[in-house]
Amino acid sequence: MLGLKLPTDPRWVNIVEKNIEEILTDHAYCEQKAASTAISLIVTHPEYSDLVTAMTALAREEMGHFKMVHDRILARGLTLGRDRKDEYVLKLLTFFPKGGSRLTNLTHRLLYAALIEARSCERFRLLSENLEDKELAEFYRSLMVSEANHYTMFLNFARQYGDRKVVDEKWQNLLEFEAQIMKDLGKKETMHG
Ligand SMILES: [Fe+2]
Ligand SMILES: [Fe+2]
Repeated sequence: MLGLKLPTDPRWVNIVEKNIEEILTDHAYCEQKAASTAISLIVTHPEYSDLVTAMTALAREEMGHFKMVHDRILARGLTLGRDRKDEYVLKLLTFFPKGGSRLTNLTHRLLYAALIEARSCERFRLLSENLEDKELAEFYRSLMVSEANHYTMFLNFARQYGDRKVVDEKWQNLLEFEAQIMKDLGKKETMHG
Protein backbone atom coordinates (compact mmCIF):
# COMPACT_ATOMS: atom_id res chain seq x y z
CA MET A 1 0.00 0.00 0.00
CA LEU A 2 2.92 2.34 0.62
CA GLY A 3 4.47 1.53 -2.75
CA LEU A 4 7.96 1.06 -1.29
CA LYS A 5 10.18 -1.11 -3.47
CA LEU A 6 12.48 -2.48 -0.78
CA PRO A 7 11.37 -3.53 2.69
CA THR A 8 13.60 -2.73 5.68
CA ASP A 9 15.56 -5.68 7.05
CA PRO A 10 13.60 -6.64 10.21
CA ARG A 11 16.90 -7.04 12.10
CA TRP A 12 16.98 -3.23 12.16
CA VAL A 13 14.60 -3.44 15.18
CA ASN A 14 17.20 -5.46 17.13
CA ILE A 15 19.74 -2.70 16.55
CA VAL A 16 17.20 -0.08 17.66
CA GLU A 17 16.28 -1.99 20.80
CA LYS A 18 19.84 -1.86 22.03
CA ASN A 19 19.76 1.93 22.01
CA ILE A 20 16.27 3.31 22.69
CA GLU A 21 17.72 6.67 23.78
CA GLU A 22 19.27 7.14 20.34
CA ILE A 23 16.13 6.24 18.39
CA LEU A 24 13.95 8.49 20.55
CA THR A 25 16.26 11.46 20.00
CA ASP A 26 16.43 10.85 16.27
CA HIS A 27 12.68 10.30 16.10
CA ALA A 28 11.95 13.54 17.99
CA TYR A 29 13.86 15.48 15.34
CA CYS A 30 12.04 13.65 12.53
CA GLU A 31 8.78 15.00 13.96
CA GLN A 32 10.23 18.50 14.35
CA LYS A 33 11.49 18.43 10.74
CA ALA A 34 8.07 17.27 9.52
CA ALA A 35 6.52 20.30 11.24
CA SER A 36 9.22 22.58 9.74
CA THR A 37 8.53 21.22 6.26
CA ALA A 38 4.82 21.95 6.65
CA ILE A 39 5.56 25.54 7.73
CA SER A 40 8.06 26.00 4.92
CA LEU A 41 5.48 24.92 2.32
CA ILE A 42 3.08 27.57 3.66
CA VAL A 43 5.77 30.24 3.30
CA THR A 44 6.86 29.25 -0.22
CA HIS A 45 3.41 28.46 -1.72
CA PRO A 46 0.80 30.61 0.09
CA GLU A 47 -1.49 30.81 -2.96
CA TYR A 48 -2.37 27.10 -2.68
CA SER A 49 -5.13 27.56 -0.11
CA ASP A 50 -5.97 23.85 0.29
CA LEU A 51 -2.32 23.15 0.91
CA VAL A 52 -1.96 26.01 3.41
CA THR A 53 -5.00 24.74 5.33
CA ALA A 54 -3.68 21.19 5.41
CA MET A 55 -0.12 22.25 6.31
CA THR A 56 -1.42 24.40 9.19
CA ALA A 57 -3.07 21.33 10.68
CA LEU A 58 -0.07 19.15 9.89
CA ALA A 59 2.45 21.46 11.57
CA ARG A 60 0.39 21.27 14.77
CA GLU A 61 -0.01 17.51 14.51
CA GLU A 62 3.71 16.91 13.93
CA MET A 63 4.65 19.16 16.86
CA GLY A 64 2.14 17.13 18.88
CA HIS A 65 4.12 14.03 17.88
CA PHE A 66 7.32 15.82 18.85
CA LYS A 67 5.85 16.52 22.28
CA MET A 68 4.84 12.87 22.72
CA VAL A 69 8.37 11.69 21.91
CA HIS A 70 9.96 14.40 24.05
CA ASP A 71 7.71 13.47 26.99
CA ARG A 72 8.87 9.87 26.63
CA ILE A 73 12.49 11.00 26.68
CA LEU A 74 11.86 12.96 29.89
CA ALA A 75 9.91 10.08 31.47
CA ARG A 76 12.98 7.90 31.01
CA GLY A 77 15.06 10.45 32.92
CA LEU A 78 16.86 11.48 29.73
CA THR A 79 17.44 14.81 27.97
CA LEU A 80 16.87 15.42 24.27
CA GLY A 81 20.22 15.13 22.48
CA ARG A 82 21.48 17.12 19.52
CA ASP A 83 20.05 16.65 16.04
CA ARG A 84 21.58 13.85 13.97
CA LYS A 85 22.38 14.10 10.28
CA ASP A 86 19.75 12.18 8.31
CA GLU A 87 21.86 10.58 5.54
CA TYR A 88 18.77 8.99 4.03
CA VAL A 89 16.93 12.28 3.57
CA LEU A 90 20.07 14.09 2.39
CA LYS A 91 20.59 11.47 -0.33
CA LEU A 92 16.93 11.36 -1.27
CA LEU A 93 16.77 15.14 -1.79
CA THR A 94 19.40 14.94 -4.54
CA PHE A 95 17.07 13.06 -6.89
CA PHE A 96 15.16 15.84 -8.67
CA PRO A 97 17.24 18.46 -10.49
CA LYS A 98 17.29 21.91 -8.90
CA GLY A 99 15.58 24.81 -10.66
CA GLY A 100 12.44 24.53 -12.79
CA SER A 101 9.12 26.31 -12.30
CA ARG A 102 7.58 26.99 -8.90
CA LEU A 103 4.95 24.36 -9.60
CA THR A 104 7.55 21.75 -10.59
CA ASN A 105 9.43 22.59 -7.44
CA LEU A 106 6.30 22.21 -5.36
CA THR A 107 5.44 18.80 -6.82
CA HIS A 108 9.00 17.61 -6.16
CA ARG A 109 8.81 18.71 -2.54
CA LEU A 110 5.42 17.04 -2.13
CA LEU A 111 6.77 13.78 -3.57
CA TYR A 112 9.81 13.87 -1.28
CA ALA A 113 7.52 14.47 1.69
CA ALA A 114 5.20 11.62 0.63
CA LEU A 115 8.11 9.21 0.41
CA ILE A 116 9.64 10.20 3.75
CA GLU A 117 6.22 9.70 5.37
CA ALA A 118 5.85 6.31 3.66
CA ARG A 119 9.25 5.05 4.80
CA SER A 120 8.70 6.41 8.32
CA CYS A 121 5.36 4.63 8.39
CA GLU A 122 7.05 1.36 7.39
CA ARG A 123 9.68 1.80 10.13
CA PHE A 124 6.97 2.55 12.71
CA ARG A 125 5.15 -0.60 11.66
CA LEU A 126 8.30 -2.67 12.23
CA LEU A 127 8.75 -1.10 15.66
CA SER A 128 5.08 -1.63 16.56
CA GLU A 129 5.24 -5.31 15.60
CA ASN A 130 8.63 -6.25 16.99
CA LEU A 131 9.61 -4.12 19.97
CA GLU A 132 9.76 -6.03 23.27
CA ASP A 133 8.58 -2.91 25.12
CA LYS A 134 4.82 -3.25 24.52
CA GLU A 135 3.96 0.28 25.63
CA LEU A 136 6.44 1.74 23.16
CA ALA A 137 5.22 -0.69 20.48
CA GLU A 138 1.67 0.60 20.94
CA PHE A 139 2.91 4.18 20.69
CA TYR A 140 4.51 3.39 17.33
CA ARG A 141 1.35 1.67 16.13
CA SER A 142 -0.69 4.83 16.67
CA LEU A 143 1.92 6.99 14.94
CA MET A 144 2.07 4.56 12.02
CA VAL A 145 -1.58 5.33 11.26
CA SER A 146 -0.93 9.11 11.26
CA GLU A 147 2.05 8.83 8.94
CA ALA A 148 0.12 6.64 6.50
CA ASN A 149 -2.46 9.42 6.23
CA HIS A 150 0.27 12.01 5.66
CA TYR A 151 1.76 9.89 2.90
CA THR A 152 -1.54 9.79 0.98
CA MET A 153 -2.16 13.48 1.59
CA PHE A 154 1.19 14.57 0.12
CA LEU A 155 0.87 12.24 -2.85
CA ASN A 156 -2.66 13.45 -3.55
CA PHE A 157 -1.58 17.11 -3.43
CA ALA A 158 1.23 16.37 -5.91
CA ARG A 159 -1.28 14.70 -8.26
CA GLN A 160 -3.82 17.48 -7.79
CA TYR A 161 -1.45 20.37 -8.54
CA GLY A 162 0.88 18.78 -11.07
CA ASP A 163 0.21 16.95 -14.32
CA ARG A 164 -1.11 13.57 -13.15
CA LYS A 165 0.82 11.50 -15.70
CA VAL A 166 4.11 13.31 -15.16
CA VAL A 167 3.72 13.18 -11.38
CA ASP A 168 2.98 9.43 -11.40
CA GLU A 169 6.04 8.78 -13.54
CA LYS A 170 8.25 10.88 -11.25
CA TRP A 171 6.84 9.07 -8.22
CA GLN A 172 7.76 5.68 -9.68
CA ASN A 173 11.28 6.88 -10.50
CA LEU A 174 11.69 8.31 -7.02
CA LEU A 175 10.57 5.00 -5.49
CA GLU A 176 13.23 3.16 -7.54
CA PHE A 177 15.89 5.63 -6.43
CA GLU A 178 14.84 5.30 -2.81
CA ALA A 179 15.13 1.51 -2.99
CA GLN A 180 18.74 1.94 -4.13
CA ILE A 181 19.50 4.20 -1.16
CA MET A 182 17.80 1.71 1.19
CA LYS A 183 20.12 -1.11 0.12
CA ASP A 184 22.88 0.37 2.29
CA LEU A 185 20.59 1.28 5.20
CA GLY A 186 18.72 -0.53 7.99
CA LYS A 187 21.88 -0.92 10.05
CA LYS A 188 21.74 2.03 12.43
CA GLU A 189 19.64 3.00 15.42
CA THR A 190 18.11 6.02 13.68
CA MET A 191 14.64 6.29 12.19
CA HIS A 192 15.88 6.21 8.58
CA GLY A 193 19.38 4.80 9.12
FE1 LIG B 1 4.63 12.59 12.74
FE1 LIG C 1 3.99 12.79 9.30
